[in-house]
Amino acid sequence: MRILAIESSCDETAVAYLEVDRAKVKRLEHIVSSQLIHAKYGGVVPEVAARAHAETMPRLLNALAKKVAGSEDGKKFGRKIDVVAATRGPGLVTSLRVGLDTARTLALAWKKQLVGVNHIEGHIYANWLGNKKLFEESPKAVFPALILVVSGGHTELLLMKGHGKYHLLGATRDDASGEAFDKSAKLMGLGYPGGPAISRLATKGNPFAYDFPRPMLHEANYDFSFSGLKTSVRYFLDDKRESIGDAGFIADVAASVEQAIVEVLVAKAVRAGRDTGAKTVMLAGGVAANRKLRATLASAFAEKLPTVRFIEPPLEYCTDNAAMIAVAAAFRAKSKDFEQPAKTDVDPNWELGRL
Ligand code: KG4
Ligand code: ZN
Repeated sequence: MRILAIESSCDETAVAYLEVDRAKVKRLEHIVSSQLIHAKYGGVVPEVAARAHAETMPRLLNALAKKVAGSEDGKKFGRKIDVVAATRGPGLVTSLRVGLDTARTLALAWKKQLVGVNHIEGHIYANWLGNKKLFEESPKAVFPALILVVSGGHTELLLMKGHGKYHLLGATRDDASGEAFDKSAKLMGLGYPGGPAISRLATKGNPFAYDFPRPMLHEANYDFSFSGLKTSVRYFLDDKRESIGDAGFIADVAASVEQAIVEVLVAKAVRAGRDTGAKTVMLAGGVAANRKLRATLASAFAEKLPTVRFIEPPLEYCTDNAAMIAVAAAFRAKSKDFEQPAKTDVDPNWELGRL
């Protein structure tokens, strides 16, 4: 099966080509274009994002056609494709529109099957890209899988019972963990997106220098809340305004903020792993690129639940990309979960597994 996948749910425009044959990946090509324009606004501006997707998409498709079919000839490229896929939600409505409408049009023009992918599901399937044997393994060896979703817009614990089968265990009641990183970074004057900046600085700081709140750490549920952490960082920095220019101080704050976020995420994941009897645990979403989170989760499971296999997505595929959308589309296509190109629509609030 040869898949063209398109991702445009937020501020990355991305395309990918994936060829899978009898559960083996034969070829993967992908291109991501990040919209740097949002940095000056300190966050993603939806109207600006949609316009940038529309401007960039044809250029990316041409570049992918050149890689895959050897030329920008759309007809030739179309002959190499069996399935066209795009992210259908969740995300920014006008940004999603650009990717899905491109895919609908190509599916109609080329007479191909169309698959609509859930963006979070894409993040989950990024794990398959770093662990190719997952493609061949029996579902019994992998599921139920506990998924810790940590992206810019979502923080949740999902129990994945099989391909396409999700049960939502818990979610954040306010900010996502990515937002906690981004908003804290903004207060610290580190720019957008703040997660990578905080994690870079944190390597030089003391994670126990300052005791920021660990929201809902001891509550017997799988929910999260991160807005209080951001508020506490704000008050803390207001008191220490004279120290903000001090590199050692900022590194200590970054390390302490990271420590607070990671501790809560890991504790709740371990609780869920214990309660559900999951066979594997996986990270999904942009914050999965955080090295401290990866290392802490791995060692917590090794120590407390050693029979649960820890699987991590490759760093390259943690933040938004279309390669992960292509993998998710391959599994949806396998179960003949197709959309009607003339009828389907974006679903900006599409949630996985909520009953
Ligand atoms: O999944 P993603 O690319 O976009 C959404 O689907 O929302 O996630 C983006 C988020 C941003 O909040 C960014 O700050 C965060 O992932 N992020 C990180 C790191 N790399 C990206 N957060 C912490 N540490 C990182 N290394
Ligand atoms: Zn994402």
